[in-house]
Amino acid sequence: MTIVHLRRGRTSLVLDGRGPGLPRIVHWGADLGPLDRAELAAVVDATIPPVVPSSFDAPTVLSLLPEASAGWSGRPGLAGHRDGRDWSTAFRLDGLDVSDGGPDPGRVAARGEAVGVPEEDGDHDGAGAARLTVRASDPGAALSLTVELTLDPTGLLMLRHRLRNDGDRAYEVRELTPVLPVPAVATELLDLTGRWCRERSPQRHPWPMGAWVREGRHGRTGHDATLLLIAGTAGFGFGHGEVWAVHTAWSGDHVTVAERRPTGEATLGGGELLTPGEIVLGRGEEYGTPLLYALWSDAGLDGLSDVLHTHLRARPKHPRTPRPVTLNVWEAVYFDHDLDRLKGLADRAAEVGVERFVLDDGWFRGRRHDRAGLGDWWVDDDVWPDGLQPLIDHVRGHGMQFGLWVEPEMVNPDSDLYRAHPDWVLQTPGRLPPEWRHQQVLDLAHPEAYAHLLERLDAVLSEHEGIAYLKWDHNRDLTEAGHRGRPGVHAQTVAVYRLLDELRRRHPEVEIESCSSGGARVDLEILHRTDRVWASDCNDALERLAIQRWTGLLLPPELIGTHIGPERSHTTHRVHDLGFRATAALFGHHGIEWDIGAITASERAELAAWVTLHKRLRPLLHSGRIVRVDHPDSAVQAHGVVAHDRSHAVYAISRLTTSVAQVPGMVRLPGLDPQRRYVVRPAAGVPEPAVLQMTEPGWLVKGEATLSGAVLGSVGVQMPALHPEQALVLEVTPAS
Ligand code: DGJ
Repeated sequence: MTIVHLRRGRTSLVLDGRGPGLPRIVHWGADLGPLDRAELAAVVDATIPPVVPSSFDAPTVLSLLPEASAGWSGRPGLAGHRDGRDWSTAFRLDGLDVSDGGPDPGRVAARGEAVGVPEEDGDHDGAGAARLTVRASDPGAALSLTVELTLDPTGLLMLRHRLRNDGDRAYEVRELTPVLPVPAVATELLDLTGRWCRERSPQRHPWPMGAWVREGRHGRTGHDATLLLIAGTAGFGFGHGEVWAVHTAWSGDHVTVAERRPTGEATLGGGELLTPGEIVLGRGEEYGTPLLYALWSDAGLDGLSDVLHTHLRARPKHPRTPRPVTLNVWEAVYFDHDLDRLKGLADRAAEVGVERFVLDDGWFRGRRHDRAGLGDWWVDDDVWPDGLQPLIDHVRGHGMQFGLWVEPEMVNPDSDLYRAHPDWVLQTPGRLPPEWRHQQVLDLAHPEAYAHLLERLDAVLSEHEGIAYLKWDHNRDLTEAGHRGRPGVHAQTVAVYRLLDELRRRHPEVEIESCSSGGARVDLEILHRTDRVWASDCNDALERLAIQRWTGLLLPPELIGTHIGPERSHTTHRVHDLGFRATAALFGHHGIEWDIGAITASERAELAAWVTLHKRLRPLLHSGRIVRVDHPDSAVQAHGVVAHDRSHAVYAISRLTTSVAQVPGMVRLPGLDPQRRYVVRPAAGVPEPAVLQMTEPGWLVKGEATLSGAVLGSVGVQMPALHPEQALVLEVTPAS
């Protein structure tokens, strides 16, 4: 066996695979440069912990799967049993294999797979992804473990455990959680929480002793899902600090955890949250964990986003066509569907430059309100006597794409489907889960329910000419979600992935949005089979600035739906100028969610100007590097996108509230080439925001400033005297 050194991007991973127990990660973090065999052995020696009084007589080392048999007294990597036996393991290393190639994010429930055992040694620093496979077994407990670890060219690490039952009697898996060690210099934690209309709220604190456990028991990813759990050096920010982070890629119950032990170890990890009885393996059966994504940066949170965004943009299925400016009709008409009114809305949409028109909830049988109809995926003849095709044709006649809303996994008890098949609902014997938005969840592990749903979705797409997009919604938690009397969330999650995969196979040209009452299904496994997320049902620009800033930690802007809402927000009742709303929606997958049939001609003209600006900047916004400004005044929020060759950038500076300081200070514009001179000016073609007074003598009155990237990054420009809830878009181009 061997010591393995994987190097990709700016990251090194050193793993002591000399056995006889499970390998230990010796280093995960900064690139260590090339190391020969002796140097690697020295690194391993240098990191062996001492034996201290009142402890085990040999050093306790943290393996890829922490075990009590190796002296680990923290959270176990594996919890499980076979009728109360085989509850503790002592895995022995059988083989280690290093090869090229990435993981298989879409493969979530494979069984019984053979893995090769050739021995490799030393440095692995090729150009593609490096894949390390570890095989181990515990014959006493009759279990085999395969660890799949991939370091991709960006330095992103992907980790998955597979556990196989080699015994005759069933083995129940209660928990299987990959973890990674983090060095003691990481002393602070940052994660995200939230709720409906307030997704992705950051929470930050010192990293204390004990476990910081983020559990999601929603049967979906959850409005409160952390997206990333980050550990970093004191005071880390968007642009500075050394940070380690993990993301648990799973759309069902899951856990993401940071643990610091009095024995000195600190770990980050994540896996599926299993209900008792949910995973019981028969002989030869295997359970695979969700992929744990893990990443490191010495350039703060923006450095983490660089790694993730580069990785996501390199995926073969990453959307590469210009993201069509979208009009979603939900907040314009809600359930009040009327062909002529919707055609009028489509006419107005085309006038302002919309490229995709999405018909939201309310088009199918019995769906006049949210208390009935879910499950009956036939066009409602009462409302649509000639079907949807006339509207689709009208929309396409304007050169726009047509999109349609569905919520496949849900059923209203007041529906023909439920009346015919009440047994197709996830439930516990003898009682139904409490209703939520008057709906229950279809049991997709039920073969007939699954087949019915696939047939219906397939038919809706096949029977209409020109549906280019599905907004796939999911509006309730899974509660007491039983399948044939057993816990059903795992099987449901796998079945939803299968359904999406099959539908995409049959209709590869159709794009899909992951929506779940806003942003309750945002994770990298659902994104493996969808093309964007709906970040929140809240279209209030002020709230959106925060929600998008933190959603953008994980996802590049082109994957985040950002729409201009009405003047008075439907969810908060705040009133905002169009300029502020449009600036907040400018960077992402841009759109409109507003009754633009009922606005004035001058509002429409201004809206069209913002759409034109977005389209002009879109190639940059959806390919460049995201930078977020660490401003000392929390009333100021600034972010930007910088082209990879640093020849072009766009920033948005927003004043969120008033400040105690009358002048909140300079705003740095990071990410530019320090050696180059740039011209900074407000974006042309759109009205400038309301300012406190127009007599400021500085650069804004002159209309532009010419400064070097070094000055812009270190000194910045003076914050304009904006009123609260106003924003300014700046465009930066090279000085001639
Ligand atoms: C919740 C979604 O997040 C909204 O955008 C809208 O599609 C409604 N559901 C429709 O019921």
